[in-house]
Amino acid sequence: MVSDITIRDIGKYNGQKIKLNCWLYNKRSSGKIQFLQLRDGTGIIQGVMAINDVPEEVFKKTASLTQESSLVVEGIVREDHRAPSGYELTLTDMDIIQIAEDYPITPKEHGVEFLMDNRHLWLRSTRQRAIMTIRSEIMKGMEDFLAQREFLRIDSPILTPSAAEGTSNLFETEYFESKAYLSQSGQLYNEAAALAYGKVYCFGPTFRAEKSKTRRHLTEFWMLEPEMAFYTHEDNMKLQEELISYLVQRVLENRKEELEILGRDTKRLEQVKAPFPRITYDEALEILKEENLEIPWGEDFGAPHETAIASRFDKPVFVEKYPVEAKAFYMEPDPNRPEVVLAADLLAPEGYGEIIGGSQRISDYNLLLQRIKEHNLPLEAMEWYLDLRRYGSVPHSGFGIGVERTVAWICGLEHVRETIPFARMLNRIYP
Ligand code: 4AD
Ligand code: MG
Repeated sequence: MVSDITIRDIGKYNGQKIKLNCWLYNKRSSGKIQFLQLRDGTGIIQGVMAINDVPEEVFKKTASLTQESSLVVEGIVREDHRAPSGYELTLTDMDIIQIAEDYPITPKEHGVEFLMDNRHLWLRSTRQRAIMTIRSEIMKGMEDFLAQREFLRIDSPILTPSAAEGTSNLFETEYFESKAYLSQSGQLYNEAAALAYGKVYCFGPTFRAEKSKTRRHLTEFWMLEPEMAFYTHEDNMKLQEELISYLVQRVLENRKEELEILGRDTKRLEQVKAPFPRITYDEALEILKEENLEIPWGEDFGAPHETAIASRFDKPVFVEKYPVEAKAFYMEPDPNRPEVVLAADLLAPEGYGEIIGGSQRISDYNLLLQRIKEHNLPLEAMEWYLDLRRYGSVPHSGFGIGVERTVAWICGLEHVRETIPFARMLNRIYP
């Protein structure tokens, strides 16, 4: 008998006797036969239990099984073209591990808040499994893509002495006799690593005390941040479009079934191949004017602006060369036009907004010092960062891609809360 198998791979064992660890998803009975929908986290398969095929007390106990009861079943795998998975299990025996109490999530419609309160159980649903599987595929894809290009993974600290992305949304915490802040971005540490090792990235959770309640904002989210010594703004965008094309094509190829479960229209995704269109901030303002969403020069975009700009394109679009005052302190000015910076945001199609923020970094010591002062950042905490411009400074660039926004877009989801196992938002820190 074969054990330690998954429903996803069950076709490999056609005709063989197997043992499967699983949970009861649903059941119905027609007297002498009980039909058990079994799930194991990789798929669902129907187990057919005929009264004459199993010990008498097993058949009796099966009648009392509730949704989400945990089981070990034995049976023979049979190909069945009518079954959604293509296979069925003819059950020969079953061990009950636990009979579940009344399961709160039933096939009826539940409100989102109820489901979020029960997130620890909601994760078991087919839809959530599909999302988490695609999330995992994307995260693995990010690392594979960079590994193919000889990037070194470094890990930046979560507890930091100062802000990386501006002080307005910092989570503060006590650090013995002083204060510390939860990392908003690993970028500054990444820059040190890039000057040490060339091409590096960090990948981990980042924190923003976002007071906004939107479908794109989490207070804890995962970000992949590559940083490359000697890369210009142009090199940076090229790497980004290659990464995004790779991720989208990889999910289309490897996660067809999951995209189907989510009802994702994949036609738009198929077009996502490098190169991507590029417009300047100034050109974006022209589009906004035409859409009656005018903003003054110098302001950054909000969600409605991003949606209006991106809707002009069928691929993700780079918006580059933002006004200095709209962006973070560390960005390199355009030598031809010092009032704008060599930065680009990548806006996803279909209203998903900014998924990447990146830039070339200031490499000149004096300019960086000036910007730190203009932004009133604590100089002592920044001394080490200034050192990177004192000792072997080079042009360098990098970017940050938000995992959850990328997953929301590729999966075609309404809200980022479903893209992370346990979402942290303005009004939610449970479960
Ligand atoms: O544009 P951001 O703030 O850029 C940085 O933090 C840079 N230091 C990254 C770098 O150059 N190394 O954030 C980058 C991305 C955004 O484009 C978005 O995808 C995601 O992080 N992001 C969020 N995702 C979910 N919830 C939030 N509150 C987010 N804030 C940013
Ligand atoms: Mg940004």
